[in-house]
Amino acid sequence: MRVRGSAAVILLALALPACSGADPAATVSTTVPGPAATASSATSDPSSAAGSGTLPAPVQREPSPAPTASGAAAGPTATSTPAPTPTPTAAPSATAPPAGAYADPGAVDVVVNKRRPLVPLDFAPADLRQPDVATATENALLRPDVASALEEMFGAAGNEGVALTLVSGYRSFATQESTYASWVAQYGDAAGADTVSARPGYSEHQTGLAFDIGQADGACTLVLCFRDTPAAQWAARHAADFGFILRYPLGFHEVTGFSAESWHFRYVGRDVSLAMRAAGTQTLEEHFGLPAAPSY
Ligand code: DAL
Ligand code: ZN
Repeated sequence: MRVRGSAAVILLALALPACSGADPAATVSTTVPGPAATASSATSDPSSAAGSGTLPAPVQREPSPAPTASGAAAGPTATSTPAPTPTPTAAPSATAPPAGAYADPGAVDVVVNKRRPLVPLDFAPADLRQPDVATATENALLRPDVASALEEMFGAAGNEGVALTLVSGYRSFATQESTYASWVAQYGDAAGADTVSARPGYSEHQTGLAFDIGQADGACTLVLCFRDTPAAQWAARHAADFGFILRYPLGFHEVTGFSAESWHFRYVGRDVSLAMRAAGTQTLEEHFGLPAAPSY
């Protein structure tokens, strides 16, 4: 386990909210699409970051309605151009993709959102490994190619004096069940939870392609103010060089379905990440000409 002393304590004390594997043992009656998706059947999972008997306190998230350009997260284009106004439907960039496109959960171009569940819903990657980087938790597994790219990115950040930590990686269907249930319990209903947490079978974390980062000092872990930290700003600027995109940019919740998460990165490979940066495209939905996914 590579946990940097004080950072680890701080991070774990935060009880790891939205993108964590926190397991508050909440029993919640709610409807979740797909088979075997009852929130009350939460089970512990080896990939779970940390258990907690206490629900995390409500955290700051992206304000609603969509923020102005002055509040935009740092990114390749955010510093020099106003944030584009998101539209409910992501405009296709070319012809519509064939049915089934970007649906292979084992492929790096899979698109998972509220309208595109994983198939099968309980998909689990064949290979996972722990990246050799500083982590906030014992288990933060990723697909091997993703882990390697992440190691390169964290190394490059470190060389520039920015200490990144890995907060969360792969989450199984069962872990996502308990994570989502904890958010339903915290918000009191599914509508609130749905703005910050994917339902089981609908989370990129279940692909092993997505992860959450933190800063070594634990500042603003998994909360809105993380976007202002050197860690978030460095990652937003450089992620594309390593094949990553910031998956939930500020102001695009009507396309992605989720509030901004300046800590959540998704591996798509350098072809896609560099093309998106060159075009100034902010979401995978827009890049692949897929419909927006504001709701289930
Ligand atoms: N927080 C992201 C949307 C997830 O739960 O996968
Ligand atoms: Zn995440």
